[in-house]
Amino acid sequence: MFTMQDLRAHYLFSDQDADLLLTLQPLAELNLERFSREFYDYLYSLPETAAILNNSNRARLREMHINWFMSLFCGIYDNHYMNHLTRIGHAHVKAGLSVHFVNAAMNQIRHFLLGLIDDNYSDREQRRILREAVEKMLDMNLDVMSTSYREEEMKKVFVSRKVESFLIKATERFTYGLNLALVLALAGVSISVVILFIWDILHIFRGDMEKGILSALGSLLILWMMIELMDNEIKNLKGGKFNILVFIGVIIVAMIREILISTLRKDDLTTQAFLAGTLLILGVVYYLVSHAQKEHPVA
Ligand code: HEM
Repeated sequence: MFTMQDLRAHYLFSDQDADLLLTLQPLAELNLERFSREFYDYLYSLPETAAILNNSNRARLREMHINWFMSLFCGIYDNHYMNHLTRIGHAHVKAGLSVHFVNAAMNQIRHFLLGLIDDNYSDREQRRILREAVEKMLDMNLDVMSTSYREEEMKKVFVSRKVESFLIKATERFTYGLNLALVLALAGVSISVVILFIWDILHIFRGDMEKGILSALGSLLILWMMIELMDNEIKNLKGGKFNILVFIGVIIVAMIREILISTLRKDDLTTQAFLAGTLLILGVVYYLVSHAQKEHPVA
């Protein structure tokens, strides 16, 4: 952060400039009413600034803006003055005003003051040095105000960013933990399917050939889909996208297995027709999703 001395050095603002501004004080005083009127006419002409004015204590606001205007010509520009400017930026952020309107308003003030000098000083050189002193002072004001403005806005973003990134990290870890648990659960279920497959094979050796083969086939299908599911989950853990197609595939395979078992159980026709119908619908859904994925591939 700069001191007022730094600022004066950077803008080449000399003691002579300070004295020149002091000489403008009586003229500013004389035109104070006009300044206030024009400034507020301007602020009320813009819907955004008018809305802020309508929500403020107008008399107090007018006094603050008039005091600031007169402070431009006080002749003493020390760190106390700088603190006053710093406060202004903060005050406007709190009032919910975009810095854009501070810049635009400063442009109007500049026009007003330069016009005042042009209208009241006939000497060209005098006009030039007065204009320069005013320009430097307004630019220094805008510099400090916008710096404190940015700081105040950064503070707001920084606090929410910290909270945001904490929440995002916590949620990401939680989701990662859940995915990990899911992969472990899938591995556990897969082991059960392997056991089921062995059990089905045992049926073949016990002489129940047809049941054994069909059930083993069903279990193998499920095992194959479990592998697909785990593969999909692992990809997900590594940052890949969730692939819904695998899940539809799992349901299809489960349905095929159910149909195989249903024929073995010799279920009635309605049950078998219901299973076949469900399988057909799942097949159509699978086709539609895979078709959509071809158009918008999953990473
Ligand atoms: C170059 C432009 C401007 C300057 C130099 C300026 C100056 C000031 C000053 C000195 C204060 C008092 C700050 C304090 O000590 O607390 C203030 C407050 C305020 N200004 Fe401005 N102002 C400018 C532009 C605007 C604009 C465009 C608006 C739009 C409506 C505005 C609205 C306000 C409001 C609402 C407050 C009161 C904040 C509070 O209640 O604390 N100002 N302004």
